[in-house]
Amino acid sequence: MSDAGIDRRQLLTAAAMATAAIATSKTAEASIPAPRLPYAEGALDPVISARTVGLHFGKHHQGYVDKVNELVASHKELQGKNLEQLVKATAQSADKTALFNAAAQAWNHDFYWASLRPKGGGKPTGAIATKIEQDLGGYDAMKKLLQEASVFQFGSGWAWLVVRDGKLAVTKTSNAETPLTNPSEKPLLTIDVWEHAYYLDYQNKRADYAKAVIDKLLNWDFANQNLASNVQG
Ligand SMILES: [Fe+2]
Repeated sequence: MSDAGIDRRQLLTAAAMATAAIATSKTAEASIPAPRLPYAEGALDPVISARTVGLHFGKHHQGYVDKVNELVASHKELQGKNLEQLVKATAQSADKTALFNAAAQAWNHDFYWASLRPKGGGKPTGAIATKIEQDLGGYDAMKKLLQEASVFQFGSGWAWLVVRDGKLAVTKTSNAETPLTNPSEKPLLTIDVWEHAYYLDYQNKRADYAKAVIDKLLNWDFANQNLASNVQG
């Protein structure tokens, strides 16, 4: 009897450990990994200061990722999805607005950091340059459109260069909205025009920030990569 009792206890302990392991593995599976900045915090200086990038990436962006992980924990059906899948899965759900906002902001910020690079900006080369000529009337016309989208976005949001139904277009979104949820649009580049992106460096002069980003930071290699994947996919 006592041997059987020990066996039962051992079995129960083993079962409890297995359950805990599964729970841990599910939690780990559900979590969105910590965001990654593709360069040092000071790499965009003086266009965007290390202080701005430090706060923007370390507090705002990280905060959105933390919020996603906190909210996903109470949505079993969404656990295991990656960020892009979470954005798409929550976009039309009125009861999941908070999760959509956090996930879309996390995704948009990943895309924003990749849209910038030290010593970037200026005229692009490659397929994107040809497409800008064909669809938007040339680099200067594109630059004007992107500048206007950045400045005229009322309140917080994003300016975007996208492929829309096969053609380049410049567009803007409010708050956390993202072209990712629009089946006819594929984002190529973005500029964050929330005040937290520029206020420390440019105060209220959003136009100066947008111009500096376009002229000195846009990562046209990233746009070319996104354009190529759009053509292939
Ligand atoms: Fe931001």
